[in-house]
Order: sequence, then C-alpha cells, then structure tokens
Amino acid sequence: MRMYDLIKKKKHGEELTREEIAGMIKGYVKGEIPDYQMSAMLMAICFQGMTEKETADLTIEMAHSGDMVDLSAIEGIKVDKHSTGGVGDKTTLVIGPIVAACGVKVAKMSGRGLGHTGGTIDKLEAIPGMQVAIDQKEFFSIVNKVGVSVVGQSGNLAPADKMLYALRDVTATVDSIPLISSSIMSKKLAAGSDCILLDVKTGSGAFMRTLDDSIALAKRMVAIGEHAGRKTIAVITDMDIPLGNAIGNSLEVIEAIDTLKGNGPKDLTVVCMILASNMLYLAGKGSIEECNQLAREAVKSGAALKKLAEMVEAQRGDASVILDPSKFEKAPYQYVVKAPKEGYISHMDTEQCGIASMVLGAGREMKDSIIDYTAGIILHKKTGEYVKKDEALATLYTSKQEQFAKAEEILTNAYTFTKEAVTNRPLILAKVTSEQVERY
Ligand code: URA
Repeated sequence: MRMYDLIKKKKHGEELTREEIAGMIKGYVKGEIPDYQMSAMLMAICFQGMTEKETADLTIEMAHSGDMVDLSAIEGIKVDKHSTGGVGDKTTLVIGPIVAACGVKVAKMSGRGLGHTGGTIDKLEAIPGMQVAIDQKEFFSIVNKVGVSVVGQSGNLAPADKMLYALRDVTATVDSIPLISSSIMSKKLAAGSDCILLDVKTGSGAFMRTLDDSIALAKRMVAIGEHAGRKTIAVITDMDIPLGNAIGNSLEVIEAIDTLKGNGPKDLTVVCMILASNMLYLAGKGSIEECNQLAREAVKSGAALKKLAEMVEAQRGDASVILDPSKFEKAPYQYVVKAPKEGYISHMDTEQCGIASMVLGAGREMKDSIIDYTAGIILHKKTGEYVKKDEALATLYTSKQEQFAKAEEILTNAYTFTKEAVTNRPLILAKVTSEQVERY
C-alpha cells in the first residue's frame, strides 16, 4: 500500500494493519517515506488515535528498528524503571542502588534532560569522572558484579523513535497517548529487561497534566509491556509540585545521597520507597509489604548507599564524593529568593520551577548548551506551607550571576499564595496493572 493510502485510511479513523505499520516504519527509517508524509500521518494519529492493537504493533516495529539488547549474559531477573519526566526527579539514583542492594539486577539506559525536565544521565555526569558511555560488555559486567549500572542510551536503540520524536517536536504532535506510549515503550522493550516499572508523572510539571490522561497513558503502556511478554506496572505520582527540595544536577545527586542515608525529604523518600517496592515486587521478592520492608532495610543498613558508591567507582567516577558530598564543587554565586507576601502556598507551577533552574544553567536552552552542574535551586518552602513576607522561599545557585534576576522572576511567579490553609494531594495517585486501576 502507498503511504498516501495509509494517511487517508488513518484520516478516516480506520485501523492500520500490522503489515501496514511495519511497512511505514521500515520505509521511514530507510528514508523512502519523506518527513511531509510522516508528519501528515502523525497529525492524523493525533486526531483519530490508535487502537490498543495498533499502538502495540507500532511499538514493536519501532523497537525492532534498531538493536534489541539481549541481557541474558546478566544473571537473574532484570528490572527496568522509566519516569515520564519531571522536575527534581532523582529517583533513579536512589532506587537503582536500593533494588540492587536487595539482590535484583538493574541494567538501566537513561536519557538526558528534555526542556524543563531533568535527565538522569546529566545528573550522573555531575559526579567527577563518572562515565556513562560504556560499551555493552563492560555494562553487563558491572551489572553482574555490582547489581546496578546506569548508562546513556546506545545510538542504535529504537532509531525510529529518535526520528519520529524529532519530527513530533516540530509538528505539534508530541501530546498523543499512542505516540507517547509507543515512543517510551519501544525504548524499554529494546533495552531488554524482564520487568518494567513505569513512573507516570501527573500535574503542572509533567507531560500529562490531568490524572485521567495519566491513567490512560499508563494503561496503554502497561498493555504494550504485557503484550510483549514483560511484566509491567505503572504508578502515577504527583508532579504538581517539584519532587524533593533540590532541582539541578549536583544538588540533586547530594539530595539522593541524603535519601540513601535515610535523611532525605519526606516526599522523595515516600515516592522512592513505593517505586523500589514495586520493582522488587515485579522481580518476585514477595508481597508489596515485604518488598517495602526489604527496601527500608537496604537504606537503614547502609547497603544501598554502598551500592551507589560501588556503581560510581565501577563507572570510573570519584566514589569519595558519595561518602562525603561536601566534596562536590559549589556554585560560585548564591541568591536567596524571598516571599513577596504572607500566606499559604496553594500551588507551584512546577514546569516554571524547572525553567527557572534551566535559566540558572542546570538545563539546556538549546540542543548544544553546556550544562553548569553546580547550578540549580534549593526550595525552602513548597505547596501547603505557610510563609511570612520576606521569608526565604528558595536559594538559587549559578556560575552566571547575571541570570539571578530572570530566574527569581520566573520562580516567584511560579508560587501562588492564599489566606486559607491548603491540604496537599497524595504523592501516589494511582496504580495501574494489567488487571486493574487503583485510585488512591
Ligand atoms: N518521553 C519519550 O521518550 N517519548 C515521548 O513521546 C514523551 C516522553
């Protein structure tokens, strides 16, 4: 069938067959289908959607467009985790070591920051000497020896997604549930783990702003994972407020270390424990309660922190900074943002908090911007708390002093204040398995 006919079929809301989807993806990757035709197809998908079967077929074709990593050289069950992206989300740095300390292997390929959201690979590179571009043989050997390794995505992992994502980014076709789910799951399937835990973020700092949309995305991704024979669970977590108090690369690594020592912020600790317990549960380590207990013990005994130091050392990083975070390089300039008025903080526009951190140098404004690892924000007050006028809301860190005014304006405007006391919504809003959706 010609691409013209496939576009017409989707425009009329008809279901594409497996063969049609396969021909389309193969043709696009080979350069036989031009961007203008693929753009029309993506827009038709945005308007007409895709059935569960079409989305699963699309995902599998995208996964098979490049290397399918075979993790069989790593002993035991391998569990992967994916977050749909947020602000202050350093959970991988905490959960990977906890899960490994409990005897489950984590062979994780992560990405860099995208827009206002941070990326695990950028955070890891804030650790002096840390290598994230590691060949497959060494990656497998680190996971076998240490239990956990986090590296950058190999160049040939789901290349169809790389091409489609770049096209979606410039054709206003990112926010489509079948396109987001196939994009994320194609990379997860290609990365080869037996089980997948999805952390689907919801709220003003996430791709999905409402709980209903987040649940719909989670259901679609869980269905794809299970269809491909991977045990998959999704947890919907709050991203209507930054996670933890630190935003920015080395600040977030330090907060992750504090959390592994049992001294992290409460919200980050709760979310990490839930995610780690679900990963252990997927790996068959017991009931959720038993897994939660295992995760807590790994932190209490210091075994999880030791795992992070071992992973850093194996990836040629300076593990002494993990044991003594005061050794991290500090930003040369600091500035305290004060509350413009008295009252309860009723909301934080979390995307804007991420943008303020990016402006300070913690993220990339352009594709090739250089990251300042010391830059970012420590929040002293968050949603639900009471502040007096001029009380410290946050401290900004940067190497570029001239950025303070812009970052202060963005961050101050991200806060909304009210006279009435506010109750925070739960951190964990729902859990989606192949059998059910539980809302909390
Ligand atoms: N993350 C991805 O990898 N793909 C999307 O489409 C959205 C978020």
